[in-house]
Amino acid sequence: SDGLHAASYPWPHEGIFDSYDHASIRRGHQVYTQVCAACHSMKYLHWRQMVGVAYTEEEAKALAFDTEVMDGPNDEGEMFTRPGRLSDKLPAPYANEQAARYTNGGAYPPDLSLIAGARHNGQNYIFALLTGYRDPPAGIHVREGLQYNPYFPGGAIAMPQMIVDGGVEYDDGTPSSASQQAKDVTTFLTWSCYPFQDEMRVMGIKACFVLTLMIAFASYSKRLRWAPLK
Ligand code: HEM
Repeated sequence: SDGLHAASYPWPHEGIFDSYDHASIRRGHQVYTQVCAACHSMKYLHWRQMVGVAYTEEEAKALAFDTEVMDGPNDEGEMFTRPGRLSDKLPAPYANEQAARYTNGGAYPPDLSLIAGARHNGQNYIFALLTGYRDPPAGIHVREGLQYNPYFPGGAIAMPQMIVDGGVEYDDGTPSSASQQAKDVTTFLTWSCYPFQDEMRVMGIKACFVLTLMIAFASYSKRLRWAPLK
């Protein structure tokens, strides 16, 4: 069966004149790092993409530097590890899908880079899913290793409840209630799927402005040119 349909939440970046809440993207990355990254990769995301979006260049460099990246082969033909750089991807928790499934009882934690676009009603679904864990209704039995979550298609999900009150520490001091974390990580995942949304909206507004001028000029010069023939 399909999952319960998620409500439409009032995302601050919803309207065409709205931008992302960048402080929320930053906090969302902290939720991802402290919680989700234990199981989910984000293989399309590089540290440099977060510069000017969620972190300063120095902050992003320092975060990358704290990770370990496999590189090589060097001149001797050996692989080696080195600190991460801005041009690296975020580190992945597992070497491959088999390793991921082995650790998660056969279930596969999907890559989260594009998940907000891959699921119907993406951002509302993710928020509802993360905050939707509850006891199953009377008469519903969920198989060992699965959890009841009415928003997940089928109603039984292999991902345990991961978001709990106070579960992360935000560097801006925002209290990390469960709903705050769910909102922030969903904003972060929506940004990672649509990273150019702010820029595209500015472009669209500029295009409308320029087109209005061009139409005004074209209709004026058309009248001017044809006036002697009327
Ligand atoms: C699935 C998000 C943390 C294990 C998923 C899905 C999302 C998601 C959006 C896809 C559901 C679907 O297919 O529609 C997150 C977020 C996390 C988080 C935002 C952090 C807040 C974790 C952690 C683990 C985990 C820490 C491992 C302990 C899984 C597994 C699945 C899954 C195994 C597949 C579920 C199934 O197919 O039944 N997660 N996750 N997740 N996640 Fe997570």
